Amino acid sequence: MRIDAFDTLSPDQVADAARILREGFAHMPSGFHGPGEAEAEAASFLDDEDRSALAALDGERVLGWIGLVRTYSHAWELHPLVVDPAAQRRGVGTALVAALEARAAAAGVLTLYLGTDDDYGGTSLFGQDLFPGVAERIAGLTETARGHAVAFYRRLGYEVVGLVPDANGPGRPDILMAKRLSPTPSA
Ligand SMILES: CC(C)(COP(=O)(O)OP(=O)(O)OC[C@H]1O[C@@H](n2cnc3c(N)ncnc32)[C@H](O)[C@@H]1OP(=O)(O)O)[C@@H](O)C(=O)NCCC(=O)NCCS
Repeated sequence: MRIDAFDTLSPDQVADAARILREGFAHMPSGFHGPGEAEAEAASFLDDEDRSALAALDGERVLGWIGLVRTYSHAWELHPLVVDPAAQRRGVGTALVAALEARAAAAGVLTLYLGTDDDYGGTSLFGQDLFPGVAERIAGLTETARGHAVAFYRRLGYEVVGLVPDANGPGRPDILMAKRLSPTPSA
């Protein structure tokens, strides 16, 4: 497996990256279900100067990809991350996150953050009314048997820093996570 800049992919590979985005989030109502939605999202990482992305490849085959959105001066958003369902649980997602972190750290970024929705019941927060005392809910957040990316990110050192109640409808929050990046030697 190798990791290349998204803007070096061929048009066919970008189309495949869009397919992976659609299929990877197929279990989530907030996924990329509308006609052309996944294609537009993938294209934004080629067209928008505040966005860039990396792709994991096996030969010519795209295994997954990860995006970076330059938001604050010293904190950038990881968005999106998706691995082809046929290539999951083989370390591709972990390798993509590591490559993105290295890129962000080299640019002087101190914090990488992300939002990971629970609109399908992957965590104990699903179906709950999180107000009042939203922040106190974070301590009790666990993954359900359906599995959720929050477990993947925790394993990589990300912690839950906030919740957006009802982001995707009643009882369907977005879970905000962040990680401090190691300073580069020159920082
Ligand atoms: C989340 C995702 C990117 C992980 O990529 P991956 O290549 O499958 O992950 P890795 O093989 O690097 O996983 C490393 C470890 O993370 C954990 N992990 C990975 N996916 C997980 C999941 N869906 N639920 C719970 N834990 C998970 C496991 O501990 C795994 O180790 P193991 O396979 O030895 O048990 C991938 O499952 C995916 O694309 N999911 C759909 C889209 C999505 O949820 N994206 C993130 C939303 S912001």
